[in-house]
This record gives sequence, C-alpha cells and structure tokens, in this order.
Amino acid sequence: MNAKENVIASLAAALGTELPAAQIAELLEVPKSSTLGDYAFPTFSLAKIRRQAPPLIAQSLVDVIDQTGYEKVVATGAYVNFFLDKSTFAQDILATILTEGQHYGDSDLGAGGNVPIDMSSPNIAKPMSMGHLRSTVIGNSLAKIYSKIGYHPYKINYLGDWGTQFGKLIVAYHKWGSEAEIKADPIGNLLKYYVRFHKEAETDPKLDDEGRLWFKKLEDGDPEATHLWEWFRGLSLAEFNKIYQRLGVEFDSDNGEAYYNDKMDPVVQELTDKHLLQASQGAQIVDLTDEGLTPALIKRSDGATLYITRDLAAAIDRYHKFHFAKSLYVVGSEQTEHFKQLKAVLEKMGHTWAQDIVHVPFGLITKDGKKLSTRKGNVVLLDQVLDEAVDLAKAQIASKNPDLKNADQVAHQVGVGAVIFHDLKNDRLDSFDFSLQEVVRFEGETGPYVQYTNARAQSILRKAATNVDLTTDKLVLTDPKAWDVLKYLADFPNMITRAATEYEPSVIAKFALRLAKAFNKYYANSKILVADDELNARLALVSAVSQVLQAALDLLGVQAPAEM
Ligand code: ARG
Repeated sequence: MNAKENVIASLAAALGTELPAAQIAELLEVPKSSTLGDYAFPTFSLAKIRRQAPPLIAQSLVDVIDQTGYEKVVATGAYVNFFLDKSTFAQDILATILTEGQHYGDSDLGAGGNVPIDMSSPNIAKPMSMGHLRSTVIGNSLAKIYSKIGYHPYKINYLGDWGTQFGKLIVAYHKWGSEAEIKADPIGNLLKYYVRFHKEAETDPKLDDEGRLWFKKLEDGDPEATHLWEWFRGLSLAEFNKIYQRLGVEFDSDNGEAYYNDKMDPVVQELTDKHLLQASQGAQIVDLTDEGLTPALIKRSDGATLYITRDLAAAIDRYHKFHFAKSLYVVGSEQTEHFKQLKAVLEKMGHTWAQDIVHVPFGLITKDGKKLSTRKGNVVLLDQVLDEAVDLAKAQIASKNPDLKNADQVAHQVGVGAVIFHDLKNDRLDSFDFSLQEVVRFEGETGPYVQYTNARAQSILRKAATNVDLTTDKLVLTDPKAWDVLKYLADFPNMITRAATEYEPSVIAKFALRLAKAFNKYYANSKILVADDELNARLALVSAVSQVLQAALDLLGVQAPAEM
C-alpha cells in the first residue's frame, strides 16, 4: 500500500459504511502548504449527511483514527490533516522502488485488453508535417503508458496512401518530372511537382480533369498508374522510416487507406441493408441531423469512396482483429467532426463497441502565427529540426564535456530528446507557434534538463562505488530536505494512471520536470557522499530518483544517457 492508500484505509476504517473508499479517494486533497500536513480530508460532504458542523466531525474522526504509522493526525477547522511518519514513508518508498526497478508503477488495470492506436499517418508524397510528428510522439508515448498499465497496444501507421492527389501527382510527373530527380530527392521533388500542379491548375483547369482521369485509372487498376503509385509510396515510406528511426518509433502495421480499397463494398452494403444510406445531389450520405452533425458523405456522385468510408472499414476491421478494449485515434483537433461522424455512423449501424473509440485530438502547430500548409510551401521540415537539435547538442558536449565517450550517440539522444520532450510537455490540446530556438533549447523546462539530472545522479552513484544496501533499516532518511523528492517518487504510479485516463503524456513530462527540480534543489543543499549513518539511505534516494527519471523518460520515448 502506498501512503495515499494508507490514508484512505484509515479514513475508511473510521467511517465504516458512511462513505465508500472510492469517494474518500476523490475527496482527499494535498494541502498547498506542508504545514497543513501531507493529505487533508474535507468534511463538508459528511456534514450534509450527518447534519453536524464540519469542525465537529473533523474532531470526531481524529478521535477514532488509528494513529500508528503517522507522525500525527489532527483536526484543523473542517479538515482532518494527516502528517505522514517521514522515516517510515522514506523507507517504504525507497525499498519499493529499488526492489521493483523498472517495474515500479506497473499495474494490471488494462487486464490484457487490446488497444490499437492510430498514429502518425502521414500522407504519401508529401513531407511529414509537424502535425504528424505530434501524432507520432503522442501515440508512441500513449502506447508505452498503456503497456505499463497492462494493456496491449498496437501501433498503426494509417498512411494516407490513396486519394485524388495521386492522379494529380501522376499528371505532374508526366509533365515536369524525371526519374533521376525523384531518385535524388524523392519527397522534395514529389512535393515540388505537387505544388506546381496546384499553381498551374489555377489558370489551367484542364489539369484538374486530367488528374481526375488518372486517379480513375489508378482506381481501375491501370498498370502504369499502379506502378507509379507503388513507386511513390515505397520511396515516401523509406523517407518516413528514416525519421521514425531517428525518433526511435516502430509500428506494428502500416496498413494505410489503400489497404481498405477492397474492404469498403461490404460496408456500403451493410449501410444499404440497414437503410442508412440516402441519396443527396447524386451522392450517398448518412444523415446525422439527430446527432447535430453534418451528414457523412459515403460515396461521391462519381462513385469514388471517401475518407470516412475508409475509416468505417478500418474501424470494423480493427474491431474484428482486436476485439479492442479501446481504439485510439491520435489525430489533430481539426478532425474532431470527422471522428464524431465516424462514431455516430457506427452506432447507427448497431456497433455498440463504437463507444470504445476515442479520438485523442491535439492542438495545431503554427509558424509565425500562420497555419502550416504543404501546398503553400509554408512548411517546417522535420529532418532539419532534428539535424539542428543534434548539432546543438554536439556543440554543447564539445564545450562542456570534451572527453565524453560516444559523444555522437549522446548528441543524438539529447537532440532528439529535446524535440520529443518539447512536443510532449504541453497539454496536448494547446496550440503553439513553432520556434526552432525553443525546440532546441536545453535549459529550463526541457528534456535535456531532465536527462542531465539523471546523468548527474548516475555520476554520483559511480563516484560512490558502493552498492546500496536494501535492508530496510539501512534506508532511514530523516533529512527534511529530501521530503519533496520522496513525495514525488511516491506519486509516480498515480501519474501513470492519470496520464492514461486523460490520454495525456504531458502529465508524465511535467512530473519528470518536478522531480528533476526537487532533486536538484536537494542536491544543491545537501552533501551526499559523506560517510555518516544516512549515507546508504541518501544513495538509495539518488538511485531511486535516477530510476524513476529514466522510467518517466522512457514512457515519453526519450532516451536517458548515463553520461552527458
Ligand atoms: N492522413 C491523415 C491526415 O494527414 C490522417 C489520418 C488519421 N487517421 C485516420 N484513421 N483517419 O490528415
């Protein structure tokens, strides 16, 4: 039992059947100031039940609570304030972390349930955007968090590898492209053709007709169109894979939109059988007025299927494959309406599992206050951002730690870590303006700061050169300056569950920053490596901090070099 659970149990014992433990847990607060104890229980709700004054109730609870294991339990106004016994608390938490190691914070909440995570999903023949980067790192972190609490995540890269843009691209390639150019810089040149197509189509509307024609050919399996499509897809995927490799992200599947080409007919058939399809100006729609949503466009007037039709087929396919506990879609908030429509149509079809579909939206990244747009050429190139961050890390290492072994590898871990952490530390829904200086900043609330704190802890442990003795009576740490650090350490399991229920990796990132700051403050004011009675306990603390920081960074998909 952790400290919070102990407090809940004490209150539950005192309250009997009056309040269930779950409700006690909800009411329990952490006071702003530690002079009011470590946990505080407000008695206002009980006052309503008992029709008694809150301070009276607080005192009556204190009278019956068993005080063993606490420094004291007192009534202050309407609150019952719990002061934990600090040395017992320290021993418990240090022993727990050091014995459980990387399993500290694991739980079985998920009971082995499957969680497919639709993430990254960039569009073929275009550079991966900052939005896709956000989806990639948020999805990757959620996969790690869900796996830690006992689910089986499946990372799906639902590539945007089908659609009218391929018709346009083929036309553009025929007109202005060359194999040599594409081989030299696949995405750069495909993008160039695509941008030129849109520019010329403004004055030459025939181009759009040609584009449509070639897309039709592609849909009908024309060999030349298929060959070019496969070529573009393969080249793009190879480029994306370079980025994924740098980020350290792997997928369980890259079945994209094209994979569903032959899986949509049954969906359209099912919609027809269930009398959900309606003709509207030549197109086929599902009316969603009841739900307060715009209609879902299932088939265009020319017979072409649409984004939502593929997503319907994919959702059903995932349900049959995984019988998922939850099915997550990490996609920008601009697609909120789309996912509402998707769920609404599935519910109308009678698929009750649609309620387990969760759209995990995130905010937009802008540049100079403007939306990024591949078509308008207002893009941030991810590869360049990563290069820049790694170069900066290299320069810092060269000046601060010139003798570091594996300097290149560490520079990669620090540079890439900075970019990932920067993306994950803000609330997922916050939008932010892209600034290269901000992303590659290493001071303040950044990934490198957390990495550096861990490396510093590791260096203390190397210098100490003795192993920590795990016998509990060797873990007595009475130094009040260590108290904040210990409390944060104990909080890690709660943070993991909260990050999972809120689909919010920033909970972990913010936690890592708090812990790192508290540890640095402790370290600045205490001598660790002096031979006295508490040396072993202090080393245990340093080791626990390092383990938890590493575990937190790992949940974010950020690496933790032992030296930097
Ligand atoms: N390729 C899409 C885009 O870039 C994102 C796909 C999201 N996933 C999905 N199942 N719809 O906008």
